[in-house]
Amino acid sequence: MAIRGVLRIGEVAVRVLDLEAATRHYGQYIGLHETLREKDRVYYKAWDEHDHHSVVIREADKAGLDYVAYKVHDEPTLRELEEKIGAYGFTVTRLAAGAYPRSGRRIQFELPSGHTMQLYAEKERIGNGLPTRNPGVLPDEGVIRGMRVTRLDHVLLAGPKITETAKFFIDVLNFDLGEELIDNDSGMQLSVFLCCSNKPHDIAFALNEAPGKFHHMSFYVDSVADVYHAGDIMGKHNISVDVGPTRHGITRGATIYFYDPSGNRNEVFSGGYIHYPDHPHLTWDTTQLGHAAFAIDNQPRPSFFNVVT
Ligand SMILES: [Fe+2]
Repeated sequence: MAIRGVLRIGEVAVRVLDLEAATRHYGQYIGLHETLREKDRVYYKAWDEHDHHSVVIREADKAGLDYVAYKVHDEPTLRELEEKIGAYGFTVTRLAAGAYPRSGRRIQFELPSGHTMQLYAEKERIGNGLPTRNPGVLPDEGVIRGMRVTRLDHVLLAGPKITETAKFFIDVLNFDLGEELIDNDSGMQLSVFLCCSNKPHDIAFALNEAPGKFHHMSFYVDSVADVYHAGDIMGKHNISVDVGPTRHGITRGATIYFYDPSGNRNEVFSGGYIHYPDHPHLTWDTTQLGHAAFAIDNQPRPSFFNVVT
């Protein structure tokens, strides 16, 4: 396995206005598994994730992102990146092991887009409910439930200086630029899609005047049929839907966007192409804005571009 360095999104922490409504949404409807509860916080994992948690919700008086954390391969990788990020000119804060539950030490820094990002190498591994020897293919009945999401897949964050942010991911964290959307007249990047793995994106940024804004967190489902099944859950429980089901031009994934009860956008996502580091990056421009975003009806939605938390 050649993937080293930054492995994947490991954790997204968002603020919600009403913890009880949010636990119904993330636990019962999306089908995440609650693994820890503190006074104002609930921790979740998707069924097929091995680490203790990937989603943290915290009750607060304003929705939005607290931080996003990516898992790196091992402690030497974390040390190496800590040095590189500091040398790049970012202020790096060390967070001791245990400062975050079931986690090894972390480093934290602020992106030019105004988001707080963390890196860590260790988190308690609790498994996906299947043994590691002769695992079989299905966990016990009831483990795959709700929207049948298998993992936290990526986030899209909104803020200023996304070109500078992308340069940091490429030059320092060794991500690839998979795709970009540019203004056709000025050439300015309006969104960037960055890969640290074989996925069509592991993190994305959209240009936005206000710093530190949250556009969405995305959960992977196994098939397009499961995207529709997730849609059935949304209809059954009157979950507010933003867009879909449809397919993205960018990434080619099948998608539905919907909102949690606090207005944080979520996505169910399936498919998309495989990224390799030797692939050319793909550029879309604003003459094809609708097709880039939603490739079936080619209609750009104002809500999709304007609503962030
Ligand atoms: Fe997405």
